[in-house]
Amino acid sequence: MLKIQNIDKLSGIDTPFYYYDMDLLQETVSRIRALSEKHGIKAHYAIKANSDPRILRLISAEGLGADCVSGYEVQRAAECGFAPSEIIFAGVGKTDSEIITSLEIGIGCFNVESLPELEVISSIAEKRGVKAPVALRINPNIDAHTHKYITTGLEENKFGISEFEFQKAVDFLKSHAETLDFKGLQFHIGSQITDVENVFKLECERVSEIVATFEAMGVTIKNIDLGGGLGIDYEHPDEGKVADFDTLFGTIAKYLQHRPDQQVHIEPGRAIVAQCGSLISRVVFVKDGQKKSFLILDAGMNDLIRPALYDAYHFIENISSPDGPSAVYDVVGPVCESSDVWGEQRELAESHRGDLVAIRSAGAYGAVMASNYNLRPFAKSVYSDELK
Ligand code: LLP
Repeated sequence: MLKIQNIDKLSGIDTPFYYYDMDLLQETVSRIRALSEKHGIKAHYAIKANSDPRILRLISAEGLGADCVSGYEVQRAAECGFAPSEIIFAGVGKTDSEIITSLEIGIGCFNVESLPELEVISSIAEKRGVKAPVALRINPNIDAHTHKYITTGLEENKFGISEFEFQKAVDFLKSHAETLDFKGLQFHIGSQITDVENVFKLECERVSEIVATFEAMGVTIKNIDLGGGLGIDYEHPDEGKVADFDTLFGTIAKYLQHRPDQQVHIEPGRAIVAQCGSLISRVVFVKDGQKKSFLILDAGMNDLIRPALYDAYHFIENISSPDGPSAVYDVVGPVCESSDVWGEQRELAESHRGDLVAIRSAGAYGAVMASNYNLRPFAKSVYSDELK
C-alpha cells in the first residue's frame, strides 16, 4: 500500500492532487548514478515524462543530463540546473525559433530526425556564425513489442532517418563540416518495454551493425545513444519500486559493441519518475447500479489521460480505510466521456464518500499530459518532504 507519512496533513488539501515520494525518487536516481559510473554509460532524463521543477532539480543535482523534445523543455531543463552541454534536443518538428533558442543556450546536441531538418539547422548555424552539434536519430526498424501508440522504431513510424537515406545524410554532414559538428547516432524504439533483456539485446545488436555501417561510410561515431523505454511494473507498484535498471545497464554492457572512445548514452523517462507519483483523489459518490457499483472519484481523465488514451492499467487503492472488507467497483471519473474510467471491476477496500483513493504509478506521463477539459483546473503537486 502507498505509505504517506503524516497522512493527516493531507486532509486540508483539495483533491485531486499529485503526491510525489521524494525519497523514492532520490533512491531511484542514486541507483542510476551508481550504475552509470560502474558501466561508463551516461543517462539523460527524458523530461517529457515529468517536467515538475522540483523533480528536475533533484535529478539534475545527481548529475544526469536532460533529453528534451521542445524548445520549452530545453529552457526548463536549463533553468532547473541541467548543464547546457548535457541537454539534448530531439523531435521531428523543431521550429526555427526552438533551434535558435537551443543554440543560444549552448545545448550539447540536436538529435536530427530528417534531412530537411539537417539543412535548416546548418543554414541557421551558418547565419549565426556558429557550429551546431548534431547527431542523427536513426529509425532502426525494430519492434519494441509494446503498445502501438508508444512504438517508435518501425519504418512506418514518423521518427528518425531510415536506411535508404543514410548515404545522403553522411554526404550532407561531410559537405557541411563548417556548420555541423557531427557527434553520433541516436535511437529510441519505444516505451514501457518490459521484456528488458531480449528487446534491448536486439536493439544493441542492430545498433552495433548500424554504427559499423556509418563508420564504413567514413564518419566517426563518438556518441551512441540508445534512447529510453525501460518499463515499470504498473500492476505491483510496491514490489517494483525501482525499475530494473540493473538489467538495462547490464544488457547494454554485454551486447553493445563499442570502442572505449565512444560514449554510450541512454534516455530513460518513465522508469525514473513513474513509481514516485500517485494521483490522490476523493470518493465523491458510491453509486449502486443493478448490475454493478460505481466508485465515482473527483479525479478524471483530464488529470491523467493514460487509461482513456492507451487503455493503460494503474493500480488503485483506498488509502483512508484500507483494512475493511473488500468490494468490487467500476472506478470512474467525473468527466463527461464514457472513456473516463480508471478501472472496471476492480476489487478494493469497501469505500465511502470522502475516502481518499490513490491511483498509483502516475509520476510519468501524468501531470505533463493533463488538460483543463470541462474547465477543470490542473491538479496541484504535493511533495513528501513537505509533509515531514
Ligand atoms: N527518448 C525519446 C526519443 C522518446 O521519444 C522517449 C519517449 C523517451 C526517450 C523516454 O521514453 P521512456 O523511458 O519514458 O519510455 N505518453 C506515453 C509515453 C510516450 C513516450 C514517448 N517517447 C505513455 O503515457 O505511456
